[in-house]
Amino acid sequence: MRFRLSVIACCLLLVAPSTFARSPSRCALVKSQPDRWVTARVNSLITTARAAYESDDALPAYHRVLDGITRTLRRCKLSEDADFVNHHREFVEYVATISLDRRPDHELGFNVPDKQYFDETRSFVEVPDYLLQPAFLKLVSRWETLDKAKAFLRQLNSTRSASEQLVFLSYISRHLGTPDNDDSYRRLLIVVPGNVALGIPDKWVQFGISDPGQRVLTRNLSVVSALTNANGTFDAYFKDYFRTFRRNGSITIKGRWELGEGDDNCAQCHKSGVLPIFPVAGSVTSAELEAVEIVNARFRSYGSPRFGGYLDQAKLGPGLSMAGGEDRNHRFGKDFAATNVARAMTCQSCHNPQRLGSLNWPMDPLILSSFVEGGQMPFGMTLKNVERRRLYETLIEEYFATDNANPGILKSWLLGQHREFPARN
Ligand code: HEC
Ligand code: HEC
Repeated sequence: MRFRLSVIACCLLLVAPSTFARSPSRCALVKSQPDRWVTARVNSLITTARAAYESDDALPAYHRVLDGITRTLRRCKLSEDADFVNHHREFVEYVATISLDRRPDHELGFNVPDKQYFDETRSFVEVPDYLLQPAFLKLVSRWETLDKAKAFLRQLNSTRSASEQLVFLSYISRHLGTPDNDDSYRRLLIVVPGNVALGIPDKWVQFGISDPGQRVLTRNLSVVSALTNANGTFDAYFKDYFRTFRRNGSITIKGRWELGEGDDNCAQCHKSGVLPIFPVAGSVTSAELEAVEIVNARFRSYGSPRFGGYLDQAKLGPGLSMAGGEDRNHRFGKDFAATNVARAMTCQSCHNPQRLGSLNWPMDPLILSSFVEGGQMPFGMTLKNVERRRLYETLIEEYFATDNANPGILKSWLLGQHREFPARN
């Protein structure tokens, strides 16, 4: 009986908004009961976001909900309604921010069109000339000649000063293929030191490397640059490039977006601006293990990530583990606090706006699960494998829960119940 009643209640909730959608007085209805509308939309948004977090197959449903909210906000001019915005500021700003990449000319998800972003940031993300020499491009296009490509880099280093040494290593990614080939996991990463005094960023230039024996060569190479600021923050800038392998053997490089090959929302995965390198175990030669340590230490020295003013991370709200002890007891039972899992739910002490950036939706499931279950996080903590899995599950549950009596981190913030967060950048 309870089941049936809840099914009916659930259907009423589902039917109500779409009836609004067809009625000419829909806006009047939304405006007459704004809290009800916002709560219903927040529930749908978070439920579908969680499904999309768990499976890409659920992305279309999430996008339908998000686009529907954007449409109603626009048609009913809710974002211009001072009273509505005052009462639902987090919701309005969050939706505006996460729906940026729904616009075809905003694939990067930044607050300016992609063209403008690339025009304004060009000098930060250009690949240095010496990495574009035909001889190097040829060597770096194949796994088979990677050692020779590295010899080329060592040769370059022999002519560079101590502070300008390139740090490089090859590895296999445990997280993703390249934009042109989902199955291409091999990488050569070259960290090119910049010069803060001259306003030249460090450039992390990463080549996708074709697997041994591949006929169709991997095209992508990417750049993330890091420009440190005086106030303990750094700005990260992004660009993907594609190589074109011509029949005559020449190799040209051009922006992926400029070639009409689309683009990605880099910041959605790159929460910390530059991402640390956590390669497939055993995929880095012992000679290059030190380079992994060096580049990760370099990343940790940058400070708190910003995106050059192109993304206001504060609008994405609090991240994983940003919940109070009482809320946690309520959700997982009062004995939970004494467990190792509960003690490990402290991600926000480092992953917050002042430090490494909050881990909030939209975010990448593979990166999170691999750092937690793969044993890297929480930083410096020893846990059993079953505890790690449980930790991951409870973090996700606590973040995405939509229960009215005990809303999770995202829902309670979107409904304005945590106005103290986040501290502005
Ligand atoms: C689906 C998640 C995801 C997206 C989207 C993404 N990246 Fe990454 N990227 C990663 C991960 C994870 C790493 C760390 C290396 C690894 O494990 O593969 C990484 C590493 C890199 C690196 C090496 C330097 C570093 O930060 O470690 C570059 C360069 C890079 N990405 C560029 C980009 C650019 C440019 C975009 C957007 C056009 C982008 N990425 C979008 C997940 C992503
Ligand atoms: C004591 C500080 C600290 C705590 C607590 C911590 N982290 Fe981290 N986290 C770091 C540091 C430092 C790095 C960079 C690691 C490296 O350099 O290899 C990192 C990197 C990461 C990354 C990859 C970078 C990114 O931003 O996506 C993820 C994902 C991550 N941590 C998740 C978590 C989760 C989930 C928790 C909680 C269970 C957690 N961390 C707890 C300090 C911390």
